[in-house]
Amino acid sequence: MASEITRREGMALLAGCGLAGLGLIASGDGARAAAAPSIDAVARKGKRRFGSAFGWSPPGADAGSFANPAYAALLERECGVLVPENELKWQALRPDAASFAFDRVDAMLDYAMRQGMAVRGHTLLWHRPKWMPAWAESHDFGSTPATEAERLLTTHIETVMRHCGPRIASWDVVNEAVDPETGGLIEIALSRAMGGAQQSIDLAFHTARAHAPAAELVYNDFMSWGAGSATHRTGVLRLLEGFRARGVPVDTLGIQSHLVTNGPDIAATVARQESDWRAFLDAVVAMGYRLIITELDVRDTGLAAPFAVRDPLVADYTRAYLDIMLGYPQLGDVLVWGMCDKYSWLDGFDPRDDGKPRRGCCYDPDFRATPMRAAIAAAFAGRLGES
Ligand code: G3I
Repeated sequence: MASEITRREGMALLAGCGLAGLGLIASGDGARAAAAPSIDAVARKGKRRFGSAFGWSPPGADAGSFANPAYAALLERECGVLVPENELKWQALRPDAASFAFDRVDAMLDYAMRQGMAVRGHTLLWHRPKWMPAWAESHDFGSTPATEAERLLTTHIETVMRHCGPRIASWDVVNEAVDPETGGLIEIALSRAMGGAQQSIDLAFHTARAHAPAAELVYNDFMSWGAGSATHRTGVLRLLEGFRARGVPVDTLGIQSHLVTNGPDIAATVARQESDWRAFLDAVVAMGYRLIITELDVRDTGLAAPFAVRDPLVADYTRAYLDIMLGYPQLGDVLVWGMCDKYSWLDGFDPRDDGKPRRGCCYDPDFRATPMRAAIAAAFAGRLGES
């Protein structure tokens, strides 16, 4: 028997039982989810992986963390790859210009290794002043600012990649450097000191490649298929073309995929957005870039409040999106930005107009599987005939 199922499927089965043991199975969807193969297991049959963001917390805290048994059960049940939601960012790692705080990341990496899960790195340079530590935005770059800025950036990247080593094989090297309003590049203090964003972005990728020649290097951003994202898409294409022209080592475009519905007529919304989105993806893969979905979730905007009404619409929107994306052989992993509505960033960042909690994840606040979970699994399963 043991040789017939993989270790992970075994873990998934155990986790399924664990979920029941933790009394987390209430609705039919949950029972079906627990009985069903994990999303990652279905994804792997199509030579992809499924995963999620996760966090650090003290043991047993009510948080989206590996140290919360209820949340860990979801990760172990469904995921094959994880990404720290916050703990690898400059704001978390760099209390000041001289020191690094790896304790939380180390605990998260140890957990993932124990579970036999892969880990993605997010992010070596979030190219926005708001998300850089205050000290970095007010740093004194001295009489030779470019030299000091290059030292600060390369030291950060080398130290973080050396510390994490082969435990992280895919990195969001640069995150969100394109201004959605203008399509131009966003400056930070480091880049201004270096002579411009193009210099800091290129140096980040060259440094990462030099330090981890085998790692997947990703430019990650939130340009989307949504109305109003055309300028952002154009700016990202221009950045990707520039990388090729200058020989900057970038392997993959990270597509965050924070989807936003636009009213209940899902088919009409998809029809409005699909062709421009395919044109964008076609242009990206034509330049030889791979694709990865790094932060999938759904803002159920414009959908009526009753769960029975909006949950299936969220699922339909997710399925329509994944049916397009999974049609690209260049697409690798698919990660969601958290497994459970209870711990999602969505309500804090962009609450619904009616004040009702958003339902944009695979599990609801009571850890019951949502129709979105089934839609993601079905999208992967729907591709198996092709591979
Ligand atoms: O850890 C500190 C804690 O010590 C302090 O007491 C608390 C109160 O200020 O803040 C905590 O830091 C918060 C951190 O999340 C950890 O919870 C930051 O204030 C808060 O801004 C941060 O929000 C994160 C945000 O990125 C900014 O880093 C969200 O959780 C995270 O979901 C979000 O993720 C981003 C991706 O990195 C990039 N793409 C978009 C995505 C959503 O915005």
